[in-house]
Amino acid sequence: MTEFKQRIFSGVQPTGNLTLGNYLGAIRNWVALQKKYESIFCVVDLHAITVWQDPAALREATREVAAGMIASGIDPRECIIFNQSQVPGHAELAWIFNCVARMGWLNRMTQFKDKAGKNKERASVGLYVYPDLMAADILLYKATHVPVGEDQKQHLELARDIAQKFNSDYGVDFFPVVEPLILGEAKRVMSLRDGTAKMSKSDPSENSRINLTDDRDTIAKKIRKARTDSAPIAGTIEEMADRPEARNLINIFAALSDQTAGDICVRYDGQGFAAFKKDLAELSVSVLGPITEEMKRLTDEKTYIDQILKSGSEKARALSAPILKEVHNIVGFLQS
Ligand code: TYM
Repeated sequence: MTEFKQRIFSGVQPTGNLTLGNYLGAIRNWVALQKKYESIFCVVDLHAITVWQDPAALREATREVAAGMIASGIDPRECIIFNQSQVPGHAELAWIFNCVARMGWLNRMTQFKDKAGKNKERASVGLYVYPDLMAADILLYKATHVPVGEDQKQHLELARDIAQKFNSDYGVDFFPVVEPLILGEAKRVMSLRDGTAKMSKSDPSENSRINLTDDRDTIAKKIRKARTDSAPIAGTIEEMADRPEARNLINIFAALSDQTAGDICVRYDGQGFAAFKKDLAELSVSVLGPITEEMKRLTDEKTYIDQILKSGSEKARALSAPILKEVHNIVGFLQS
């Protein structure tokens, strides 16, 4: 008998390049977790189109994200890797959750406010109900744990609220209340140009982020150019609380080398950033270089990637079908 494993679900949007934030905040942790949990990793193309995407670019980015997951160490023989649109249950359960979630809950979502900006009236309805789809992604498989970066925390709280309200509305104990797994020393990787802004695919400044498509020279150059301050590195991370750029680089160093931020402070205590940055550039290149090269190789192997996504979708459909059928039954949809 196989040992019972709990189930994780997580996803990445295929919009633009994967960044060091996606890698350290999410994918690197998934690689470690896949051994312990039954794992489902999704390229969330339905989420991507909440903001208009060029169709050809969307197809490319979908393959690239899948390639990035595999190049980082996700094992497609052990885990399910697929793209969301290929399992219609996501959209279907999201509709049911649109009817469970309350307007007031969605009105509080800070990501919608950030993304819609001042032009709320012109944002897509999809962007507004985005978190309902995210809850559907997870609960369609009754996943128990969701490894994400810190920016997704509020969405996961909403997924918990939806699960609880569904259970109480229908008097069942059906959906699990999911646990976020926000792990590692780089839970929120910040821009290399502004330590108060999240590192993001959509930042207009290329130097603000490291992309998993950057070559070794570009990675090293971006680290060298990263903003710091003029004070020396302190012996503890607490002493660097109000130095966001410096703290960010320390966290990145710690996460890439599987140490704590405290360890790094002790090692560089009292030094300026020159030697630290040189070491960080070398470390980044040694960890990310092989990943970016493998990702490029895999992205060119379209048939291989498409095959993995196809077989992942089939497995995902099979896992979710009985759960969705049960949901229909609970809600009262007459099944013919
Ligand atoms: P997305 O595509 O923006 O990001 C994918 C993952 O990367 C993490 N991340 C970061 N972590 C630390 N620092 C950063 N600067 C950084 N930037 C991104 C994110 O936290 C995320 O874990 N809504 C999700 C995708 C999604 C999902 C889901 C996740 C859809 N359905 C179900 C979990 C479960 C998103 O837009 O992630």
